[in-house]
Amino acid sequence: MVDKMSDSSPDIILALDLENREQINQVLQKTGDRLNWVKVGLQSFLREGKALVHELADSGKNIFLDLKLHDIPNTMAKALESLSELPVGMITLHAGAGPEALARCSQFARENIPNVTLLGVTVLTSTNQQGLEAVGVKDPIEDQVLRLAQLAVDQGIGGIVCSPLELPRLRQALPSSITLVTPGIRPANADTGDQKRIMTPRQAKLAGANYLVIGRPILAATDPKMALDSILEELSD
Ligand code: C5P
Repeated sequence: MVDKMSDSSPDIILALDLENREQINQVLQKTGDRLNWVKVGLQSFLREGKALVHELADSGKNIFLDLKLHDIPNTMAKALESLSELPVGMITLHAGAGPEALARCSQFARENIPNVTLLGVTVLTSTNQQGLEAVGVKDPIEDQVLRLAQLAVDQGIGGIVCSPLELPRLRQALPSSITLVTPGIRPANADTGDQKRIMTPRQAKLAGANYLVIGRPILAATDPKMALDSILEELSD
């Protein structure tokens, strides 16, 4: 399991949302040893496969495999089995898959991949209230997020991915051992891009995040190393 106290400085996870291997290698060279974690999502995993994960692990990185699994319980557990040889620290699945699927996955992880923390994804940050209602959920988004997070935790899932604005509520409602991972991070002077529900790295730290997923503020910076250094500086205060 990922061992991280909620009151310590959050680790940065660099989202490798890039077009090809060369771009990935370039940004890793530039950001160097100060970066411990990287996120491999569907875009890169489906293109590069398991080889990318092995290579990144061999280069000393911890890996957050963001595949957001969502299927029937048996298929989700079998998907985890297919991933179990991989040297990753965290894997995402949708909490909306329901209690049976979550319980099967957490049992599988406990028994077979105890060093991997499963993270429940609640309501995607791209979903607004209208979008939620379109799929039949009338409750406020915040309530649905809490409901799904609680469901995941009750079934033994070790962490939750949430927007920074949801951090205070989840940190308060969930056991302190639960890992909270948040995207939507923007340093004060950075371009917000398509992210709307954002916080600065320091605000997210104070709100209780264990890990900050950051992509474009580092990837699109003229000097990615300087961008990373300045975020780390902000977090160390
Ligand atoms: O570039 P940026 O810092 O916005 O990247 C954030 C990363 O976090 C992207 O890989 C995005 O897919 C991911 N993410 C997100 N919101 C979620 C879950 C994942 O932005 N709810």
